[in-house]
Amino acid sequence: MYWADRHVVVGVTGGIACYKSCHLVRRLVEAGARVDVVLTKAAAEFVGPLTFEALTGRPVLASLWEPGRALAHVHLGQTADLVIVAPATAHLVARLSHGFADDFLTAMLLAATCPVLLAPAMNDEMFASPATGRNLADLVARGFACVGPEIGPLAEGASDRPGRMSEPEVILDHGARLLSGANPLRGKNVVVTAGPTRESLDPVRVVTNRSSGKMGYRLAAAAWRRGATVTLITGPSAESVPVGVTVERVESTAELEAAVRHALPSADLLIMAAAPADYRPAATPTEKRPRADGPVTLVFEPTADVLMATRAQRKPGAVVVGFALETGNAVEKAKAKLVRKGLDFIVANDASEAGAGFEVETNRVTVLDAGGGQFEVPLADKATVAERILDRVGTRWTT
Ligand code: CTP
Repeated sequence: MYWADRHVVVGVTGGIACYKSCHLVRRLVEAGARVDVVLTKAAAEFVGPLTFEALTGRPVLASLWEPGRALAHVHLGQTADLVIVAPATAHLVARLSHGFADDFLTAMLLAATCPVLLAPAMNDEMFASPATGRNLADLVARGFACVGPEIGPLAEGASDRPGRMSEPEVILDHGARLLSGANPLRGKNVVVTAGPTRESLDPVRVVTNRSSGKMGYRLAAAAWRRGATVTLITGPSAESVPVGVTVERVESTAELEAAVRHALPSADLLIMAAAPADYRPAATPTEKRPRADGPVTLVFEPTADVLMATRAQRKPGAVVVGFALETGNAVEKAKAKLVRKGLDFIVANDASEAGAGFEVETNRVTVLDAGGGQFEVPLADKATVAERILDRVGTRWTT
């Protein structure tokens, strides 16, 4: 949704990280963007124009002196939706900061009026140098967006200091956030809960449920791409941390409740996608139960209903979204939960349907709202479903 039919210019400068620029360009083209690549002379020493021409199906721009393209360096940054410079070397950062316009890329950037995202990559000492620090700070103050560099292996060996270019997927998420423009979630504080919680049976054993956290993680990622500040409160999950999102890890339902209670007063939107354990053992021994003790009878007591227990902490006007994962008759059961839990929206999931619910990459949901509205989201991957849910939730601020 972010890249389809967008015109993106990718500027590539001469650092070894430019082998990753090919992947970035490829991903943009796959996502539906029209991509123009601008190469510096040094970049062309690393990756030839032919590679980018094959990836984009368009001629590469490299020279100010090409006949027939006299004003391309002026127009490109004024008509594109976004310019990404990846990698942005120390030299490019310095030239841009000082207003140089001695090749196609710097001339285009000096005249650009669209958002520009820089992905710096350089030796760690170069990045730590006061000159680079000053130049980058100047560019950020002038409105350039910046992603990375990150700590990780450099061409010259391992380093524990920043220098490595952010991965293409991370650059794409930052680009999507710039492209998402004015939308109801921009500037909002969003809290998303995800994953299962687990309760201790003894110091080594737990009781939990099948939630993977996928839906909540995709929602947190999508909310961040829309310009929100996002806190993800998550139970144990193998999912990787979404770009830009602050993550708080919890284990039990009591810890989840405490974290939600703490986060709620500043939240404009709470999305409770977590599947908290509804019961916990009434007593937990401090030592591991030996198997030789034979059969065990456990007494479980209910945990708190987090949504209900934290109602008083909701900021006035905050929007609250719950989830209802059912096994049959999901919409009717979800409607009852929407009312009982004082929600603005509830996302009804039927785990008995193929491709929906826990531990799968896809979902099919119905979003119900407190006004009686009902919005169907057809079967799709969970990232797409997350976008559709946020489209619907966003209407709360626009209608
Ligand atoms: N929820 C919660 N605290 C719990 C259990 C659930 O806040 N202890 C939230 C979930 O995150 C979800 C919504 O309540 O947003 C509905 O969860 P669900 O498990 O379907 O509801 P329950 O109240 O546990 O009802 P049921 O008896 O169907 O399990």
